[in-house]
Amino acid sequence: MSNTFYITTPIYYPNGEPHLGSVYTTVICDAVARYHRLQGEPTYFLTGTDEHGQKIAKTAEAEGIAPQALVDRYSSIFENLWKELKISNDDFLRTTQARHKDAVTKIVEKMVNKGDIYLGSYEGWYDEGQEQFVTETEAKNSEYKSVISGKPLTRYKEPTYFFRLSKYVPAVISYIEQHDDFLLPQNRRNEVLSKLREGVADLSVSRATLKWGIAMPHDPSHVLYVWIDALTNYITALGYGTADDSLFKKFWPGTHVIGKDILWFHAVYWPAMLLSLDLPFPKQIAAHGWWTADGKKMSKSLGNVIDLNKIRAVSTAHSLDAVRYYLLRAAPFGSDLDWSEQDFSRSFNELANVLGNLLNRTLNMINKYRSGVLPAAKPSEPIDHDLITRTRQLTGAISNAYANWQLQDAALLPIELARAANGYIDATRPFSLAKDPAQSERLDTVLNLSAQATKTALAALLPILPEKAAAGLQQLNVDLNAKPLSQLLSDDLPTGHQMNPGTPLFPRVV
Ligand code: ME8
Ligand code: MG
Repeated sequence: MSNTFYITTPIYYPNGEPHLGSVYTTVICDAVARYHRLQGEPTYFLTGTDEHGQKIAKTAEAEGIAPQALVDRYSSIFENLWKELKISNDDFLRTTQARHKDAVTKIVEKMVNKGDIYLGSYEGWYDEGQEQFVTETEAKNSEYKSVISGKPLTRYKEPTYFFRLSKYVPAVISYIEQHDDFLLPQNRRNEVLSKLREGVADLSVSRATLKWGIAMPHDPSHVLYVWIDALTNYITALGYGTADDSLFKKFWPGTHVIGKDILWFHAVYWPAMLLSLDLPFPKQIAAHGWWTADGKKMSKSLGNVIDLNKIRAVSTAHSLDAVRYYLLRAAPFGSDLDWSEQDFSRSFNELANVLGNLLNRTLNMINKYRSGVLPAAKPSEPIDHDLITRTRQLTGAISNAYANWQLQDAALLPIELARAANGYIDATRPFSLAKDPAQSERLDTVLNLSAQATKTALAALLPILPEKAAAGLQQLNVDLNAKPLSQLLSDDLPTGHQMNPGTPLFPRVV
């Protein structure tokens, strides 16, 4: 077991702007990366763009520009967006970079030398005007005519290199069978397994009719098609196959977060390629669900796409962290999700009315009644012990939640503790206690236990609310850098600890 942590997003196609889906995947990885960093683990977080292939070539042609110009434009939009959203990625890989292309060339040479790549032929329906193959389904839907020109499709056969996927399928099946948390969630793992057991053909990995790609090392009349070029980004970014592969040695195997649409490629093609290269499998592949908006698939014609403008508007009004929180709490990881204003409001109220309110009233009371100095606790009532237990339990619960990809729980459990602490304050009535000098010790206990719960709830939210939780902890005068998260969670604030003045964490939108 290595004690480092490497996490990746898919590399996104830079043929359009990022949207809710790409933001979602990236925010998940960011929260998980932050969690591991806060625990003190050496952590590496990769994202990037997938710049070759048919899709990009076609979009560029439609826009009348060179593919390189297209990917330069959109790739920088992705890269800048992650900065704007304060994503903590350590690297941003573009598959058109020399570092990637050179390493991919070496990777393919290795596969060729191993006998895992052979020349065969690909047969299918071909649109001569468009110079491209269309799938059987597309051909059928268009009555075997070109959707562009209306001319009949032709049956066409072209040479293509194949990767010996079938050779590795038995090993992939038995690995998945023996490691039940390799692919998540479980229902999708089962789908992958049953599809695998139906049998898998070798994989066509090159095209002679496409120009926009990495040339096949032994036959430059072909370019690599899609998956070898794309999937290997996860190791080329770490310097695999180059003179300096120290990051690779330190961080591989990694954890891949992807949408459910590309689980098959990651769960089957990628492990087979790694076997061909004699490299270890990824640690884990976690597939998240699909976003809809107001119960409908997002589409331009319905006008319900949650695009960058919308995400920016919500973030400006409610804070970036409120958007992150909403994305993670909207549904259990792995389930499909639905964006709605109503659900967002409920989510924001949890932050403002539960968490923000707890911090605010706790600080106000300690500042007012005890000049900002944390008094000692002498827990005596069942209600005290109940809050203490809830506070202590959060440490273990958070570490379970991250270990098991229960990211919705990672967001909601700290809020539940904050809700319980608000209930505790309501029930113990510190405002009344403050009026009676004989109740001074009781007030001390209430203030102390409320402060411990507040600190713990905020610390637990650091990966999801990096700015707001840090600001809240700053008001509690907690030094974030002094210890790993587990200790920040479990260590009580000491008696005599001096608080800072409070300001609302989530000011109401007017
Ligand atoms: O597939 N809901 O790139 P891509 C949730 N380049 N997630 C969504 C989404 C939605 N409505 N729409 C997109 C590719 N995503 C390949 C990947 S990896 C070696 C190569 C997210 O730009 C989701 O993470 O189409 C999905 O997997 C990713 O965007 C696909 O991005
Ligand atoms: Mg896609």
